[in-house]
Amino acid sequence: MSGGRVAGMRRLPQGFRAYGWAPSTEELARRAGLDPSQIVRFDGNTSPLPLPSSRPGAIARALAEVNTYPHGGYPRLLRAIADKDGVEPGNVVLGAGGDDLILLCARAFLGPGDRAAIASEPTYPLYRIAAGLAGAEISSDRPAVTFACRPNNPSGALGELPAARPLVVDEAYFEYAGETAAGRIEDGVIVIRTFSKAYALAGARVGYALAETDAAAELNRRQAPLAVSTLSAALALAALASPPDVVPVIEERERLTRALRALGLEPLPSRANFVLVPVAEPEAIGEALLRAGAAVRIFPDAIRISIRDEADDDLLLAALARALDRPSPVAEPGGRRVRHLRATAETRIAIRLSLDGASRVHVAAGNGIYDHFLEQLAFHGGLDLMLEGAGDLETGPHHTAEDAALALGEALDRALGDRRGIARYGDAVVPMDDALARASVDLGGRPWCECRLEREPGLALHMFQSFAQAGRLGLHVDATGRDEHHVAEAAFKAVGRALRVALRLESAGIPSTKGLL
Ligand SMILES: Cc1ncc(COP(=O)(O)O)c(C=O)c1O
Repeated sequence: MSGGRVAGMRRLPQGFRAYGWAPSTEELARRAGLDPSQIVRFDGNTSPLPLPSSRPGAIARALAEVNTYPHGGYPRLLRAIADKDGVEPGNVVLGAGGDDLILLCARAFLGPGDRAAIASEPTYPLYRIAAGLAGAEISSDRPAVTFACRPNNPSGALGELPAARPLVVDEAYFEYAGETAAGRIEDGVIVIRTFSKAYALAGARVGYALAETDAAAELNRRQAPLAVSTLSAALALAALASPPDVVPVIEERERLTRALRALGLEPLPSRANFVLVPVAEPEAIGEALLRAGAAVRIFPDAIRISIRDEADDDLLLAALARALDRPSPVAEPGGRRVRHLRATAETRIAIRLSLDGASRVHVAAGNGIYDHFLEQLAFHGGLDLMLEGAGDLETGPHHTAEDAALALGEALDRALGDRRGIARYGDAVVPMDDALARASVDLGGRPWCECRLEREPGLALHMFQSFAQAGRLGLHVDATGRDEHHVAEAAFKAVGRALRVALRLESAGIPSTKGLL
């Protein structure tokens, strides 16, 4: 809708349409009739999880000084970006995400009556919006500035770099494609980058532009003072110190692409972290996927799928096969599944757990031996477990080990629901070289931990107590041996084995004479 409805406000160009946000997860869950925790977002082109560097400790200093301005700006962040991209700090312009820099470029180059060109459409809608806000029209006839998206959103294609100048190249997905126009900044090119995608900081709103020194100075003159918050700058600096590895995302994109082809679809070749898939009825397919918990982006003749990881993408593939009424290229996921997030001031733990899994286990809370122990428990429990997180390891492993065990217990409790049909009891004996562990589990709903470890690396007992408490299970463990690592590891394996038995679905009833657990 064009402006001019409020007295004194400048009119917007005819046909101007403001940016439209995708619905919230809560809204999607309401539409799908699901719990919000069961909605998986394949529609935002963001990373499925924050990087390990995004943890409470990374912002602790900024939070302690949040009452004051970052006097002097962000020289460390400018330096770190400049070093990463092989330029000087004077070539860098900070902004609140790539969007802020697109808007900045538009208001720097465009005014009422000007024309802006957009290199290839359909593309990211903000170039058109930014030009409209500046009062300009979209036209390739002698444009004052040209916008190009490389790789392009939504196609994922890495098109030719346009010859037009001045040229703003939006490289929001640069890390996945590895090709940049940054070498052309002395030749009228401005490159826009973001921390929202590969660096997994979309909520922090940090991005930057790379430009020739005078152009960068002019953009900085026109930029809002301190468009980036101190908290966001701290997160960006922490992320730059341990940059993401995009190779797994690229490999998963190719696997997903092959599976989509096996489904008889023709996904477009992509250089980004998403694929565009032409389909006959995108709205109907999008709705069917949403009912299965998968939110994709819908276009007039296609759906766009953000790459997550194998387990999530398989969920989507199975749902897509059902929506298309074709055989699924992947195994149907088991029934007792849950996603769980435990976030405290000390730690952040994200869990995806399937009780009917195939021992596909990945535990990465940055906690060495204790991550390993949880992996053993889940593997021998026959669970599928993805546990990722980060904690205040500066204080030692205690908080992270405890919270990982609590989070796993909470996830188990949620995945068990009303515990109908389970065997309830399980036991196991596990030898490991010099060590021997016995474990018995009661999933009856009453938390209890009787645990004797002859030797202990420090936190094993505490983890069992935390797991039993949060998972509402009775746990008896007795482990002996000469090596503390072996004693604890055998104990975790034995608990996993016992759990496997107790989790088995045996009947339709509640396994208690009381009739409830
Ligand atoms: C091509 C493109 N540019 C910019 C952005 C915005 O990124 P930011 O979160 O940095 O504002 C997006 C977001 O999806 C995008 O796809």
